[in-house]
Amino acid sequence: MCGIVGHLGPSNSVDIVLEGLRRLEYRGYDSAGITFLNNDGQLETVKKTGKIENLAGELKNVNTESMASIGHTRWATHGGVTDLNSHPHSYGHLSMVHNGIIENADDLRDELIKNGFEFKSETDSEVFLILVYSLLEKLSLKEAILKAFKMVDGNSAFVFINEKSREIFAIKRAAPLVCGTHATNSQAVLSSDPYALIGAADRIYFPEDGVLCHLSASNKELISFYDLDGNPSSDYKSQSQEMEYDPSDKGDYEHYMLKEIYEQPGLMRSLCQFYFDGDGKKLLKEASELKPERFHISACGTAFYAGLLVRDYLEGINRIPCVYELGSEFRYRNPILKKGDVSLFISQSGETADTLASQGECKEKGVPTVSLVNVEGSSLFRGCDYNLLIRAGVEIGVASTKAFTQMALTGRLLSHALSPDYGDTDKEKILVDKFSLLAERVDDVLHRVDVIKKIAEEIYNKKGYFFTGRGQYYPVALEGALKLKEIAYVHAEGYAAGELKHGPIALIDEEMVNIAVVGPELKDKTISNIQEIKARKGIIVGIGPKDRSLEKISDFFIELNFDGLDELSPIYVNVVNQLLSYYMAKFKGTDIDKPRNLAKSVTVE
Ligand code: M6R
Repeated sequence: MCGIVGHLGPSNSVDIVLEGLRRLEYRGYDSAGITFLNNDGQLETVKKTGKIENLAGELKNVNTESMASIGHTRWATHGGVTDLNSHPHSYGHLSMVHNGIIENADDLRDELIKNGFEFKSETDSEVFLILVYSLLEKLSLKEAILKAFKMVDGNSAFVFINEKSREIFAIKRAAPLVCGTHATNSQAVLSSDPYALIGAADRIYFPEDGVLCHLSASNKELISFYDLDGNPSSDYKSQSQEMEYDPSDKGDYEHYMLKEIYEQPGLMRSLCQFYFDGDGKKLLKEASELKPERFHISACGTAFYAGLLVRDYLEGINRIPCVYELGSEFRYRNPILKKGDVSLFISQSGETADTLASQGECKEKGVPTVSLVNVEGSSLFRGCDYNLLIRAGVEIGVASTKAFTQMALTGRLLSHALSPDYGDTDKEKILVDKFSLLAERVDDVLHRVDVIKKIAEEIYNKKGYFFTGRGQYYPVALEGALKLKEIAYVHAEGYAAGELKHGPIALIDEEMVNIAVVGPELKDKTISNIQEIKARKGIIVGIGPKDRSLEKISDFFIELNFDGLDELSPIYVNVVNQLLSYYMAKFKGTDIDKPRNLAKSVTVE
């Protein structure tokens, strides 16, 4: 989704901002732009629809020497994908970028038009810029931003650059924003994603909502913070910057998604190491002290489907009842939150607006909040009372793969922490061995990838796809269909295998494919469900254990060995689904790492 980068310092600002924007590319966007303070002390803006390389190409035609600039990648919400709607937007001596949505933009725009202001774009963002400008007659820029901020509804981050003095202002409400400084390079930077600041900052600051960040060349500290009344504020968290940026990128892999699929066995092994022998011990101990009578699980997309597996662990192993709800629906259902409830949020980015909204609701109602999250320091991480890191490393592919696996496994560790087995070294060894067995089995699937590739080649051009599974395999049927839709742009649906006959079976003909996940549990019943599809000429891709009738009924068959995996089996099967989707998308020739219309981190509700 939209990305922000800003820089102020002695080195060439535009290069630094451009590099930051490139690092945010994985989040998804449809245009990009930069405003910089040129050598004549004037703001100059270059913005283009399409890839950042289009912008970089345009920038080659101008002298970009500069010591202050702001940049943006836009994922269109209000107004089409055009150069004019791209950010930054400029008015007079100000230029601004914005992430998020201004919910009362129409009313404010009408008012500003009545007062004689003219708009160039269709965006809600420009409303804030002109609103601030309109207040400058009586107020300083700092005061005008603070006043305007109080007048807008919705979740947003705004960043301004001022032509009149070398300074940048930023402020946010429920949207990601991080600032940083580099002591030796005397530079200040900001972004919507700490990933963009690696190398450019050695200390980073996470301002709270409503804290105005002021980056100024004339300030010895380079950054200062103010509250909504304009008084100095210490309402931010600060830490040294320890993330690493690995520019080795994809290595020998053609796509990040494939690289990330192959990283899974290693990550599975190191997760146990972290939680049983490393720094994670402390986190698991904290989790073990929770006394939940009931869990509320809330997440979006892939994280939601991983949450369904976590629900199976908490209910099946711990017998703790779970209520689960999509992040976008949670608070609008007026959830029943009671004493003894604990809320669990699952997210790769930790910045998903819908998940954060659910978390905010629980916090407000006094329900303890726990996260399973990948990005340490993200908004979700900072907002929750307890965090269990899923340790997936940076996930660049927009289609989430390794994060799903790590979410489910970390959920299994949470279930362990809440069980009587916690602290019993023999029982822990059994669990660690099970994780290793899973890693081995996944390794084996990765070595047999040619079988999956061949099947993908046979089926990638069919009319539609049903992923089916029963019991613990139902969540991976949902996730399998999501993956295929996202990257191959084909219609796919996930169904509980027993449910197809209640309606969707009307769609089955010789052009429809059923990717049928069959586990050792409920095997015969699931095979009967597949018979019903076969009888209507559907194409069957069977994924399951060695079984004569399953092999016979399948047009294509992928044999798996479930022995000893028990509740971790769905994660194993899911890797097959990931590879199937990946190769089908590859045969279709889509943009696998950056699928159309999608954003890696969805920061609007
Ligand atoms: O960062 P999060 O895990 O909170 O993201 C949630 C969803 O937006 C995300 O899983 C999305 O569905 C992915 N594109 C799935 O591949």
